[in-house]
Amino acid sequence: MRSWILLAGALALVACGEGESSDPPARPPSQVPPAAASAPESAAPPGSPDPQSPPARPVLADGAALFRARCATCHGEAGDGNGELAGALNPRPRDFRQADWQESVSDAHIETVISRGGPSVGLSPIMAAHPDLNPGQLASLRAYVRSLAR
Ligand code: HEC
Repeated sequence: MRSWILLAGALALVACGEGESSDPPARPPSQVPPAAASAPESAAPPGSPDPQSPPARPVLADGAALFRARCATCHGEAGDGNGELAGALNPRPRDFRQADWQESVSDAHIETVISRGGPSVGLSPIMAAHPDLNPGQLASLRAYVRSLAR
């Protein structure tokens, strides 16, 4: 009689052990990341205006792309003031690579000229306003102009 009890106990232990080891490790629900949390928050493209976004962070690559698309025809790919149209301009665009010019102007000056145009800072109206650029794009362009310094 006693052996039957022992045998039953042994079987129960084996069954129990097997059950535990064959179960896949279950993750408690609290550790499963919610799908929403894994979505990157800064997925908005540079062109989309976001009035709630705090101080614009410049992105050099965005500035470079904008500069090639909107500025290089006059200012030149290298920012040397020798773009395709430059020869026809008077005054001509300056050479952004010049260290003394870079030192003489503030970041605010650069961003203002770009967004509001030359006349806003006493320069030529040939330098048009770009009012459609959002703060992030302006900061990126300014950073790119700064990066052209030699
Ligand atoms: C149609 C030609 C043209 C285009 C396009 C143009 N610019 Fe200009 N920009 C000029 C000219 C010309 C001046 C010089 C004005 C002056 O000296 O009176 C100037 C001046 C500037 C200045 C001020 C330089 C200084 O002496 O303080 C900055 C900064 C500037 N441009 C940046 C840009 C950026 C960035 C873009 C593109 C978003 C751009 N410009 C597009 C022609 C252009």
